[in-house]
Amino acid sequence: MSKRILIVGSGGREHAIAKALDQSPQVDRIYLAPGNPGVLANTQKTQLVAIDPGDFDSLLGLVDQEEIDWTIVGPEKVLEAGIVDAFRQAGQTIVGPSQAATQIESSKYFAKQVMAQAGVATGSFRLFNQDKRDEVEDYITSLPLPIVLKKDGLASGKGVYICQTHEEALSKAQDLLDTPDQDLIVEEFLDGEEFSHFALVNESHVISLGLARDHKRAYDGGKGPNTGGMGAYSPVTDQDQALSQEIVDQIVQPVADQMKDLGQPFTGVLFTGLMRVNGQFYVIEFNARFGDPETQVLLPRLETDLVDLLQAHLNQAEAQVDYRPGSSLGVILASAGYPGQVDDGKDLNWAGEVDQANLVYSGVAENQGQLVTKGGRILMVQAMDASLQASRQQVYDILAKQDVEGSFYRKDIGL
Ligand code: AMP
Ligand code: GLY
Repeated sequence: MSKRILIVGSGGREHAIAKALDQSPQVDRIYLAPGNPGVLANTQKTQLVAIDPGDFDSLLGLVDQEEIDWTIVGPEKVLEAGIVDAFRQAGQTIVGPSQAATQIESSKYFAKQVMAQAGVATGSFRLFNQDKRDEVEDYITSLPLPIVLKKDGLASGKGVYICQTHEEALSKAQDLLDTPDQDLIVEEFLDGEEFSHFALVNESHVISLGLARDHKRAYDGGKGPNTGGMGAYSPVTDQDQALSQEIVDQIVQPVADQMKDLGQPFTGVLFTGLMRVNGQFYVIEFNARFGDPETQVLLPRLETDLVDLLQAHLNQAEAQVDYRPGSSLGVILASAGYPGQVDDGKDLNWAGEVDQANLVYSGVAENQGQLVTKGGRILMVQAMDASLQASRQQVYDILAKQDVEGSFYRKDIGL
């Protein structure tokens, strides 16, 4: 039967999910609450509904009224606020973790405890609260450089500080401890190759969606502040399938089993951020949702209908994930100043024809029938071609035509 699906969220990740579902013959209508107007530029079955993602009553009202079959949640904030619990109580089918299970992302300390119990490798760490100022100083002074500091809570990838000197670490640690209700994690620096793994997890049932890699720093050469992500590509190596299996066996499955044993089973998308050091995977973090911008490059690779994968996930049924051959790569066009303050309302001009199929919109609004910028990450240009090199070329050829005042993008994604 043809499905009606609601996607909660407004960014590029949500647009990418909508694009994938739009291609499925099993999907009848796609609702985005609130989505962004760029979504309408390259999808057929979508419609935007002006409901705030935090307004669960109105979302449930929409689901009732439109006879929506499944809801998929993008942003972590909504998960942390308990949307999945609210939908389950109302008897609605939703893809995402409960509020309790979302702690795997929202509390780094919770995640560390689960990993310790499950025997999963991660950087060694200590947690400090405001009463432990003196101990922080002693501890930081005793550590080798660089020193990793993290806030214990949701930070959209922007809550990590890698300090190159003890002075910098001490001063940053005091700053973080001055923030009310904010514990501090001091973590061992892991020096290796970074991977992101995506899986649909339903209690002990795991479907691996494979690997992607994003570029978190704002500027070329990995310089500048950490952002939500400036570009991504997938697959990451020619060994992705073997590596994904290793990651599922060593990390995702034990963590899923442990959360089930704890009485806080995880359901939804489990995104594992990993560092491979001397052949061994260490977990950097878990996220309880699809990544942004990883989803924009990962989903176009799927040959298997996303609806079939979601159905298998919900039914805990066997699933075969097939990929189209080739590599997918995407680069984010961002507003000047991102990840800090930006100016909105710039026209989205292109010098020449651009195929909308290559665009995934995130920070855009409509002004008199035209798309304008609204936010830090404006859009992704994404392409899939026979090789990473060929998809890079396509993407940068398109980006060369953009003419958005004050925007910037990294020139070295996938290099
Ligand atoms: P997170 O928000 O935890 O994903 O961290 C953002 C980025 O900081 C990661 O993608 C890594 O590049 C880096 N990072 C975080 N923790 C560590 C660590 N322990 N060692 C080295 N790099 C790290
Ligand atoms: N790209 C990292 C994230 O979605 O958190």
